[in-house]
Amino acid sequence: MTSASAKPSILISRLLPEEALAQARSRAAVDVHEADKPLERSELVARLRGRQGLVCLITDTIDVPLLDACPGLKVVSNVAVGFNNIDVAAATQRGVVVTNTPDVLTETTADFAWTLLMATARRVVEADRYVREGKFTQWEFMLLLGGDIHGKTLGIVGFGRIGRAMARRALGFNMRVLYQDAVAADAATEKELRATRVDTATLLRESDFVTLHTPLLPETQHLINAQSLRTMEKTAYPVNASRGPVVDEAALAQALKEGRIAGAGIDVFEREPEVHPALIALPNVVLAPHIASASSDTRVKMARLAVDNCLAVLEGRTPPTPVNPEVLAKR
Ligand code: DGY
Repeated sequence: MTSASAKPSILISRLLPEEALAQARSRAAVDVHEADKPLERSELVARLRGRQGLVCLITDTIDVPLLDACPGLKVVSNVAVGFNNIDVAAATQRGVVVTNTPDVLTETTADFAWTLLMATARRVVEADRYVREGKFTQWEFMLLLGGDIHGKTLGIVGFGRIGRAMARRALGFNMRVLYQDAVAADAATEKELRATRVDTATLLRESDFVTLHTPLLPETQHLINAQSLRTMEKTAYPVNASRGPVVDEAALAQALKEGRIAGAGIDVFEREPEVHPALIALPNVVLAPHIASASSDTRVKMARLAVDNCLAVLEGRTPPTPVNPEVLAKR
């Protein structure tokens, strides 16, 4: 903690909504990278040295060399719910608190994953292109036939906040809901969401839509791969708004190309901002540039929560959403 009189010093690695910047500036000495693109690594380290707080984005890699170059750092506050860009174990070892922004983006992210699901099944992007290209010269009975959503089976991989928000949406579409998670939901939640926990193989085999809401972990890397794609029905659609490496993009492109699955909705990529060229060439996949939580309201809430987290740690309070609370216990 800094002394009562001295303001803590924070680096904000990207331009954030004004509300969040004003909140930070009112209580800290703030250096803001005034652009919506990442700082070069060397500049990030140089500007962070000597500061106690970092508010960063998923495009900033917070690893051992960075932590060791900035020994005065007390808190790394990620403006995202996912934190696979941060070496949390290394931060914990060095007594650095890591925080993220859960809850505030749950519904917005689920809205977008649902949008991808619907756009993919009902071929919205292909239809838009068809009209713009002047191909709508006569109404056709068999034109752009898609898959139904209502009454189908939704398989949810990762039954945390966002996975459950997807299950709530599925209720309105009268869908059967299967889920896979290391931890079973309590009986009341399963009943309320009409959700049944099954193993991954059953989920892949029986779902018409497989929506991914798991963190990126060694055990979830390439969870959707050539083999799992073969398990899915020819009429099935995977949707990914979690982290790109959860899906093997090359295997997905191959399965789509060979018509082994009906389509896919993808918001996140293995090597962002690169997109596998085979995916770009396919009509039956809807692609988005990692925008599932990108509503105006939610981006403000995420930024404010990240600043709150950062200031709380530096002012000796408990941050609202810590990732490694064990560090707080030792203060
Ligand atoms: C998240 O919150 O993890 C999103 O993927 C980025 O905003």
